[in-house]
Amino acid sequence: ILNKKIIVLPGDGIGPEVCEEAIKVLEAVADRFGHRFTFEKHLMGACAIDSTGSPLPEETLEACYYADAVLLGAIGDPKYDNNPAAKVRPEQGLLQLRKSLGLYANIRPVTAYDVLLDHSPLKNDRIAGADMLIFRELTGGIYFGEKGRTAAEAYDHCTYNREEITRIAHLAFQAAGNRRNKLTLVDKANVLETSRLWREVVQGIAPEYPSVAVDYLFVDNAAMQLILNPRQFDVMLTENMFGDILSDEASVIAGSLGLLPSASVGNIVSLFEPIHGSYPQAKGKGIANPIAAILSGAMMLEHFGLQAEADAVKEAVQNALRNEVLTPELNAVSPYTTEQVGSFIAYCVLEGVGSVPQ
Ligand code: IPM
Ligand code: MN
Repeated sequence: ILNKKIIVLPGDGIGPEVCEEAIKVLEAVADRFGHRFTFEKHLMGACAIDSTGSPLPEETLEACYYADAVLLGAIGDPKYDNNPAAKVRPEQGLLQLRKSLGLYANIRPVTAYDVLLDHSPLKNDRIAGADMLIFRELTGGIYFGEKGRTAAEAYDHCTYNREEITRIAHLAFQAAGNRRNKLTLVDKANVLETSRLWREVVQGIAPEYPSVAVDYLFVDNAAMQLILNPRQFDVMLTENMFGDILSDEASVIAGSLGLLPSASVGNIVSLFEPIHGSYPQAKGKGIANPIAAILSGAMMLEHFGLQAEADAVKEAVQNALRNEVLTPELNAVSPYTTEQVGSFIAYCVLEGVGSVPQ
């Protein structure tokens, strides 16, 4: 029996709605398996700017430091996107949170679910069976380098050091060793100095993992291979911005951006968040897919060492997919609301519906 304190940062747009469903499902897990999870909500993002002036208030960061895990919804608001002069932005809160908590590795699983193959615009026979893990470096690169601008010019520096590459590379090799033993480093080593360092470091580490086959792809080619032949990928390792871009692309394989969860890990506390954004147009309409947030909760359970509990959530999600208890982007004919999808999955967890008989 575990006692865990989870800090929830619902954020903006659909963030609060999808977090509510993830909490509901985690509560069902606690009930069924006899754990005690407590949830404490704090402000981050545009909502935090509105009420405190800061996208990441000190007390939010403080709460995260002392949490067992953090669950995040989404952040962002169009009023900042279209205002290049905005001094403070919701995204700064997220980036500062990642940096402050040392969340250097963002793990994004991508699965082509059999029952959803027709929802992808990609051909079934290309994507069937695709199953990969993207390891995105999260606290370095162009996101965090020196930035500047004058009236006529702007720059964003991309820097990486050996230590930043080494620590995530080890995690990616270990993950590959527990899967299909294949690691693909995605870079732009034909042009970028940082990419050449990534390659050198990964080549140096590879002999420590003799069972893992390593290959190297330039990011432009990787973007093409990802939709041409996604089954070739097992673990993909890449830097911050390439990982951001390629993981959105990879969501097309799954059939909806609303399905992809992620875990951000470091040395202090881990954070779990859907890869999607705040989808402001959908806010309050009950049409946001809560599955990415719910599966982020499953990744949290795995992180706690609760594999059976995580499997119960994943089985319940599969059951929702099989029964088409899905939001409109995946079920246009008889759509369910965000709340209904969450309640169905929570019910399945509680009753063990959809789990494989022992
Ligand atoms: C993501 C998002 C963020 C990122 C934004 C909101 C700063 O796109 O988590 O993928 O670029 O990292
Ligand atoms: Mn992104």
